[in-house]
Amino acid sequence: MNEKFYVTTPIYYPNDIPHLGHAYTTIACDVISRWNSLLGKDVFFLTGTDEHGKKISTAASEKGLSPKKFVDSLIPKFKDSWKKLNIKYDRFIRTTDKDHEKVVQSILQRCYDNGDIYKSQYEGLYCVGCEAYYTEKDAEDGKCPIHGKKLELISEESYFFKLSKYQKFLLDLYKKNPNFISPKNRRTEIVNRVKEELRDFSISRTNFDWGIKLPFDKTHVTYVWFDALLNYITGVGYLEDKKTFERFWPADVHVIGKDIIWFHTVYWPAMLKSAGIEMPKKVFAHGWWTVHNKKMGKSAGNAVKIDDLISYAGVDAARYFLLRNAPFGDDGDFSEKALIDRYNNELADKFGNLISRVSSLAEKYGLEKLGKNDNNSILNVSQSMDKLIDNVMNDLQFDRALNFIFEQIDMANEYIQMKKPWETKDKKVLYELVNMIKSITILLWPFIPESCEKIAKQFGFEISLDVLKKPIKNTNIKKGEILFRKIQMD
Ligand code: MSP
Repeated sequence: MNEKFYVTTPIYYPNDIPHLGHAYTTIACDVISRWNSLLGKDVFFLTGTDEHGKKISTAASEKGLSPKKFVDSLIPKFKDSWKKLNIKYDRFIRTTDKDHEKVVQSILQRCYDNGDIYKSQYEGLYCVGCEAYYTEKDAEDGKCPIHGKKLELISEESYFFKLSKYQKFLLDLYKKNPNFISPKNRRTEIVNRVKEELRDFSISRTNFDWGIKLPFDKTHVTYVWFDALLNYITGVGYLEDKKTFERFWPADVHVIGKDIIWFHTVYWPAMLKSAGIEMPKKVFAHGWWTVHNKKMGKSAGNAVKIDDLISYAGVDAARYFLLRNAPFGDDGDFSEKALIDRYNNELADKFGNLISRVSSLAEKYGLEKLGKNDNNSILNVSQSMDKLIDNVMNDLQFDRALNFIFEQIDMANEYIQMKKPWETKDKKVLYELVNMIKSITILLWPFIPESCEKIAKQFGFEISLDVLKKPIKNTNIKKGEILFRKIQMD
């Protein structure tokens, strides 16, 4: 049986339409998913929406809608955006899905029965924007460090999860699995915080009712993060589809933004341990995007909508830009100009030009396969490429993978300049170049699938690992349409 691979995005709060930040994680996961299926793995890609909690119920009441009606109106916007961005997920999970509600209640019951959940009084500061509790120390002047809004003082009866009990377990987990928290620079901060102090956390609320009821006390609803994290097991059939669950769990990677790393690397493994479920293999936290060097947000009015993102230079340009412009783990800055510059200089001038020059020469002069004694240096280089890229792709260094691929494109462009096939009419040189285009296209496919599928059709090859390793069979190449038309900036 093929190896499996399970990748997840965070589930997004559907309190508004999705924006660039959500697109970023989702595109990255789509690239990971396509990359792994290209390698022949059986992939499961999960995304979805986080629909309970105070944030959603407040947003709904501002619109005069019930929370369910409100989220129902936004879900098509998410699905539509992912479709436009060419995202191929296997399940879109909603935390209001029936199977998920059952999973949450069953895990709560299990943790309650084993003594990890107890009732007490909660008093502290809360940020509805983050749906998170803050200590005096973390709050800046009584304000949320992320949203800058005044924290709400909450005092209510609440059930708590015994997180403190899992301190040693967590430290051991990080030690034994050095890549569990990735990239490396995020690890130290978590390790130090866990070493310092782990407080039990409140897992239920009573001052609103938009949530999943605790199975052992129906007057409480589940804290939205306890509910949300469990989506990762519901998504692959925990409780309802044992076979799928056994096949895909544990997750190979949870991709998240750096703001929610604590929930994923501390709460989540402790919850799983308490419920006796295996740990995910890796949590990767990416950086945040600013727009023109300003924090992106609703209040700043500068959130880049998905339609805008696509409108600048198309879907592939958007996907390419986001993964190329900043190392995946670091923060990045978005501007329309930077996107269009990369599109013009890299996709159009380098890649597009190579395709159009080689295909028109190949149409004119034809190709000739290399004989046994011909030195096929170019092909050898591109064959060792996939190994190299596989290493950087395993570490989710998309920008480096794209750099490697573009080095190949540069090499092919230099080769054509050097060999001048328009003068020599050398069909063997053209054959070598077509083979390079084939390898480059297959490796680029996870990033810019639509364009690569067009190229593959034009040159007559399939996008697969097998084809990557073998010379191209088709020698009847036709000049195609211009793939990346340059964009003039005013
Ligand atoms: N619902 C929780 C996640 C639960 S997962 C079990 C949540 N939702 S969110 O909609 O607020 O954010 C989802 C993701 O979008 C987070 O990973 C966050 O980091 C990411 N981004 C939101 N704005 C962003 C940028 N400006 N830049 C990059 N990513 C950003 O948190």
